[in-house]
Amino acid sequence: MIDPRDAGIALRLSGVRRILAVSSGKGGVGKSTCAVVGALLLARQGLAVGLLDLDFQGASCHTLLGCRPGFPAEDRGLLPLEPVPGLRFATIASFIGERPAAMRGAALADALREMLAVTRWGRLDVLVLDMPPGIHDTTLELARVVPSARHLVVTTGSRLAIAVAARLLHHLRDSGTTVIGLVENMARAGGTDAGEGTASLAAGVRVPLLGTLPFDPSLDAAIGDPCRLVQTDFSRSLAPIFDRASNHDTPIARG
Ligand SMILES: Nc1ncnc2c1ncn2[C@@H]1O[C@H](COP(=O)(O)OP(=O)(O)OP(=O)(O)O)[C@@H](O)[C@H]1O
Ligand SMILES: [Mg+2]
Repeated sequence: MIDPRDAGIALRLSGVRRILAVSSGKGGVGKSTCAVVGALLLARQGLAVGLLDLDFQGASCHTLLGCRPGFPAEDRGLLPLEPVPGLRFATIASFIGERPAAMRGAALADALREMLAVTRWGRLDVLVLDMPPGIHDTTLELARVVPSARHLVVTTGSRLAIAVAARLLHHLRDSGTTVIGLVENMARAGGTDAGEGTASLAAGVRVPLLGTLPFDPSLDAAIGDPCRLVQTDFSRSLAPIFDRASNHDTPIARG
């Protein structure tokens, strides 16, 4: 299928050094929280950071950031919002607000192409993508139009989540997508070692296990407040993991 937007997407991403997709098999394991807090942490280091919410049906980044995204300004494309100094942000919520995005598969792939083709990121050190869960249209289409995106896969230590994460990891590997690593979220008892299940999954699919994030009861109250989010125990544990995950040189998107 020829789509003229594909060439435009390569151009729009030509100033982006690294693209980090935060993905998971199961839903609700903490992708959006990792993506938002990770992007905030990188921005606080002075890096030029973009955050793109690609979970069209479950857009959450604006809620985590505590912003009501307005329609983006136009200047030879749509300019990302800047809800926090140093963080450029784009979301479908700019266009549909809190209305439900009742979209079928083809429309999801189309929305992905459209967002990537219209958003003018400029020069970025890292573009963080908050992905929907699973292996659906957005994930499949992203691999086609932005094969340089590298994935950080989030799971919990639950056997249920690990079984589904294993399928995503196999899919990513079989489709030639780079997985930077696996992270276990909501670990109990404050331990820093990942559970046995996550460790053996990482070893089995030969991806680095980048670390463990504690279950943090203070996180919920910090939703909507970027300053508080980065002061949580969750954030302190995420910092070294995100540093490592975002520090891979990524070739520019395919033309
Ligand atoms: N380490 C943690 N400690 C406590 N609560 C957490 C932690 N990580 C995530 N949560 C909470 O779990 C819920 C799900 O998190 P989040 O929305 O980030 O997951 P998700 O993987 O993006 O979900 P979806 O698949 O629906 O997009 C949220 O209420 C979030 O605040
Ligand atoms: Mg999410």
